[in-house]
Amino acid sequence: MPLWNSRFRKPLAERALRFSSSIETDKRLYNEDIDGSKAHVRMLVKQRIIPAADGRAILRGLEAIRREIASGKLKMDWRKEDIHTIIEERLVERIGERGKRLHTARSRNDQVALDERLYLRKEIEAVCAAIRSLQKSLLRQAEKHAGTIVPGYTHLQRAQPIVLAHHLLAYLSMFERDVERFRDCARRVNRSPLGAAAFAGTSLPIDRQAVARSLGFDGIIENSIDAVSDRDVLIEFISVCAITMMHLSRLAEEIVLWCTTEFGAAHMDDAYATGSSLMPQKKNPDMAELMRGKTGRVYGDLVALLTVMKALPLAYNRDMQEDKPALFDAADTARESLLVAAELVAHLRLNGRGVEAKQAEDYSHATDIVEYVVQKGVPFRTAHRIVGMLVAYCIAKGRSINSLSAREVRRFSRHLDPAFLASLTPALSVRRKQSAGSTSPREVQRQLRRWKRYLQKKGGRQVFS
Ligand code: ARG
Repeated sequence: MPLWNSRFRKPLAERALRFSSSIETDKRLYNEDIDGSKAHVRMLVKQRIIPAADGRAILRGLEAIRREIASGKLKMDWRKEDIHTIIEERLVERIGERGKRLHTARSRNDQVALDERLYLRKEIEAVCAAIRSLQKSLLRQAEKHAGTIVPGYTHLQRAQPIVLAHHLLAYLSMFERDVERFRDCARRVNRSPLGAAAFAGTSLPIDRQAVARSLGFDGIIENSIDAVSDRDVLIEFISVCAITMMHLSRLAEEIVLWCTTEFGAAHMDDAYATGSSLMPQKKNPDMAELMRGKTGRVYGDLVALLTVMKALPLAYNRDMQEDKPALFDAADTARESLLVAAELVAHLRLNGRGVEAKQAEDYSHATDIVEYVVQKGVPFRTAHRIVGMLVAYCIAKGRSINSLSAREVRRFSRHLDPAFLASLTPALSVRRKQSAGSTSPREVQRQLRRWKRYLQKKGGRQVFS
């Protein structure tokens, strides 16, 4: 019998029960549900709303049920509607009448909202820790490649030479902003909805602030209608997961490209690659591809929950039960993708071999020549034109810029120094950069040192201290 059955003349139809049961999804909230119930019961005793002896029996009963669930002894019977119902009914089975006091001054509406916030606190911590692992793998690769010069791209066309570490550090910055976003979201997550009851509050003398404090919240969600009827922090969490996955999918895409024969820029460890059932020679970057693919899943989770919540009248509506599949899927997908990425990147063998030779032919130091001419006092647009014509000449003649004779060079501008052109290598190109945050080895070293110091300090918990 459901918890609410006494006013009904018939049990819920089998098909309706199966349609509405959420056990399969919300069973994973059992720890949060028990933690929340224990805090609630302690408050009820303290406020003299229920007898202390009953409170003690409930607390013991709840711990016993936690063990029963953890060991698989308590069957997650889908007919019990949801995790809150299973636990409460089991409590009454175990300790009898005293168990019936647990739900005093509480509704499943504030209970589920509480469970989700407790779950989110744990999950934000886990996803941020996964981001940190990936950042550390990226940093180690960057340290190995502080002296590796590779082509940098715009429009996926060779643009200017860069230090490989500089490229990898760009991802560290992106993921750092994701951690910041999670941290910001955590501030809004960390408020307790408990005590809102169904939505209007209660006539019993509860102490919402005390329960909130005992569960480590920064305070309560004041308006009881708001407390049970919004899921905006879940949406916020999933949207930060979606942004993080967007960043991860860009890294994944680059890894896929680097591992092609055409790029030949990276070698993937066998433990993170897969073969073909038909073509025996194949080695495929499936993990990176799945990260790209799973990004689509997380975007879907975000749209799903936004759509569930759209246009719902206040306060609680059963539609909101559909929040959990999206929430759990986004959290699991983001966390696991990041953890696999951390290992994949740690085992990647990156190489910049052959780049110097190739870059002589791709004119990717043309911008350095423009800036050289600008330093001689020529307006930028004019310098751009001069070098553009120089490049066009080289392309037409099938020549590299450093192979031009002094006479040929002088024809384009008296400000062009043939000796400078001949000496211009990718290594010199990056060394000539001087702006803050640029690809000059000095700037990259500075960024590396800063990241190393920063990430060394960041052991342990990332969000909730
Ligand atoms: N399983 C429900 C959910 O996830 C719990 C709240 C049920 N409340 C209600 N009034 N039926 O939303």
